[in-house]
Amino acid sequence: MRLASALTGSVLAGALLLSGTAAIAAPQDLPAVEASELSDASSMLALINPSTKLSPEDYTPKDLVTVSGTSFQLRPEAADAVEELVSDARAAGHSIKVLSAFRSYQRQATLFSQYQSQYGTAYAERISARPGTSEHQLGLAADLGYTNSQAELKEAFGQTPAGKWIAEHAVDYGLIVRYPQGKEEITGYKYEPWHVRYIGEDQAKAMQSSGAQTYEEYFQMLQDASKQAQATPAAEPSTEPADTKPGSEPTTKPEQTEGSGVLREDDLLVLRFLPPYRDWSFGFTQ
Ligand code: DAL
Ligand code: ZN
Repeated sequence: MRLASALTGSVLAGALLLSGTAAIAAPQDLPAVEASELSDASSMLALINPSTKLSPEDYTPKDLVTVSGTSFQLRPEAADAVEELVSDARAAGHSIKVLSAFRSYQRQATLFSQYQSQYGTAYAERISARPGTSEHQLGLAADLGYTNSQAELKEAFGQTPAGKWIAEHAVDYGLIVRYPQGKEEITGYKYEPWHVRYIGEDQAKAMQSSGAQTYEEYFQMLQDASKQAQATPAAEPSTEPADTKPGSEPTTKPEQTEGSGVLREDDLLVLRFLPPYRDWSFGFTQ
């Protein structure tokens, strides 16, 4: 299942935008990824945002499971992570719960349409993904919060003890706060301190170390690293007998080229982050 670029904008423009906003992690410092992990909707690393959409639009993950203690569903890895995070947050004194998780194309269409009627299209687009472009449809995102509190699904949640706990600890569960404050021009959405997205613990920690503040920035680093690995020729396999005696170390070690020989050009979807396609002028003057 492929993610499709829904945009015809300039790749160069996206790269320039990022060069001014992201710290650069050396490609060898990033976990190696296969090209398909960056292009497949079933991958834990799938990037979806206003500039990308699912193909087919009504894609539904095949392996959804119920998040324990809730009526919501997620992909198994994400469900485990969210269950653990909620359990540990509660143990730390924060009575949070899952407020939303997997949403079907149809459910997202209904939600977006409700926001559109309530707030108008420009504002609806800042707070809700259109159907076929939501991480909730990937089964990898959950909304967390207090129920019936003033901060529920509000930016103020980020300033509550629970919101701060989530921001600090999400990475330990392989989750990222996907729409950080002040990054709307990159993510396409207003700050959502309640929305966490699963990418896996190694990747979440690598993203934190990389200095990238948004998944768009980190995803581009992964793409660049993949391309670099692809361009680096694999070390020739030696036809000579190993230069070792039993119990001794080899005098020379073959150079490791992480990931090389795995990525294939035709598997790499050109899915660089592109600037949001919307006309922001209206939204930002509200
Ligand atoms: N609120 C997020 C952007 C969504 O609708 O997926
Ligand atoms: Zn959400």
